Order: sequence, then structure tokens, then C-alpha cells
Amino acid sequence: MNFETILFEVNNEIGFALITLNRPDKLNALNKQLFDDLNNAIAIIETNDNIKAVILTGSGAKAFAAGADIVELNQCDKNTGRVFSEYGSKVMLRLEQLRKPVIAAVNGFALGGGCELAMSCHIRYASENAIFGQPEVDLGIIPGYGGTQRLTRLIGLSRSMELNLTGKKINAQTAFAYGLVSEVFPQEELLNKAIELATLICSKAKLAVNAVVDTVLISQQLSPMEGLAYESIKFGQVCGTNDFKEGTTAFLEKRKAEFKGN
Ligand code: COA
Repeated sequence: MNFETILFEVNNEIGFALITLNRPDKLNALNKQLFDDLNNAIAIIETNDNIKAVILTGSGAKAFAAGADIVELNQCDKNTGRVFSEYGSKVMLRLEQLRKPVIAAVNGFALGGGCELAMSCHIRYASENAIFGQPEVDLGIIPGYGGTQRLTRLIGLSRSMELNLTGKKINAQTAFAYGLVSEVFPQEELLNKAIELATLICSKAKLAVNAVVDTVLISQQLSPMEGLAYESIKFGQVCGTNDFKEGTTAFLEKRKAEFKGN
């Protein structure tokens, strides 16, 4: 499939897909075409069994994504604004709902929709020059792709309120201190570190990995008791896999497990 605004590569040897947001002259701003492309890439990832993990990054040295495309945003009214928000939100939710781990390699500005897109990934690594924020309030709007919701869950009420109410931007170290990103690397190392992480995850039992993503994510929606009950159900499911037998037998035989992904 041809994409206009993203680069899409699959590393079949290791088993991951690399999506690069590719509008560097517009700081990878998220326009309708980019959401269409991303949506189509996600559809491929959903059905391609060779893809076990995903890395999402931005092209150029400056930005992951500097937000929703303000040229398109500027045309919104109260009816089309809602559709604008719902479409981007739907694509990000579809990304988050992938049971294959999605790693954001945040290589610069992650503002507005860029921050929201990074937050819809399962793990975030950042480069030292990364800048995060929800500056929508400066445009007279609020975040429309989860910035009021995911950010609050990730960094807590007070910090989320402050960022959303002021449009203040935070650097990578502050994002790390807030728990918004897992690790910070020099920019030239970022992608390799994300690939290392994807490679490690791809070496694990695929069905267990999928179940981890599913079960960790659902913790955001269920009560603790419901979450524990759900975990037991998923635990039972993975106990029925061949990789579970292989993993435990390999341990007992003091050898390295050879997972087959079933
Ligand atoms: N939508 C559309 N175009 C955008 C954009 C966005 N969100 N963010 C940046 N661009 C474009 C600029 O208009 C500029 O295009 P041009 O060269 O055709 O004029 C190009 O990307 C480079 O941006 P520029 O502002 O010149 O870079 P900078 O280094 O001076 O500033 C930012 C970088 C990120 C601070 C600044 O671009 C910015 O504030 N962007 C908007 C952030 C935002 O409010 N996001 C939330 C949107 S809901």
C-alpha cells in the first residue's frame, strides 16, 4: 500500500513494523490524510502475523508531531469540530487497542495531538530534545484526542490540569519525572533503543505478550477486583498455549525456550 504522509516498513526478521510520521516541513502535523494513512497502516498491522510489535516515530530531527494540523483545524465549527475530534480519537484508540505492543519513539515536539498520539502508544521513549504539552487552550480549544483523559491517568489530576490549563510545555526530563515517558536517550540513540526494546519483546511468547497488553490496558477501565478476575481469566488462557508448555519445560530442563507463537 502507498502512503502519502507516513513511511511504513516491516522488519520481517525481527517482527516489528516501523511507522514514521512523514511531514517534516510541517513538523509532522496530523492532518486528515495522515490519520487516513495511519488508520490503513493499523489495519495492515492487525492482520499481519509477522508483525509482533510496532514503533512509531517522527521524521526529521525536530518533531514527533506538533499537533493536529492547524490549517484544517481552523476550518472547524461546532459541528465539524466534533467530527474532527472523533475521527482522530478513533484512529488513536484503534492504535491503543492493538494487542501488539506499540512503542512511541518521541524524537522532538509532541504537542497537542502529537502528545495525544504518543499517549495512545503503550510505551514511550523520548529523546533529550523532546518537548511535551497540550497547548490547545492557547488556540481557544481543548484537547480532542484524549489529552484530558489519558494525560490525567498517566500523570495525575494536578499536573494534567496545570498542563491543560496553561498550555505549558515540559521537557523530556520533566516528562520522565512525571512518568509520562519510560526513558530518555540522546536523539541519535533513540530509534536504536526503541528497536532494541521491540526486539526484546518480539523474542517473547507472542500470545503472552498480547495478553499482557490486553490485561494491563484493561486495568484502566475495571475496578481492582474486576481487574484481578480478568487477569485470572487471561492467565488461564495463556496456560493453554504451546509456548507456555515450552517456556516452563525449558526452564525445568535448564535450556532456552524456543517460542513458536502459539
Ligand atoms: N499545524 C499545522 N502546521 C504546523 C503545526 C501544526 N500544528 N505546527 C507547526 N506547523 C508548521 C508551521 O506552520 C511551519 O510551516 P511553514 O514553514 O509553512 O510556515 C512549520 O510547521 C514549521 O513550524 P514553525 O512554527 O516555523 O517552527 P518553530 O520551530 O518556530 O516552532 C513549534 C515549533 C512546535 C513551537 C510551533 O510550530 C508550534 O507552536 N506549533 C503548533 C503547536 C500546537 O499548538 N499544537 C496543537 C495543535 S491542536
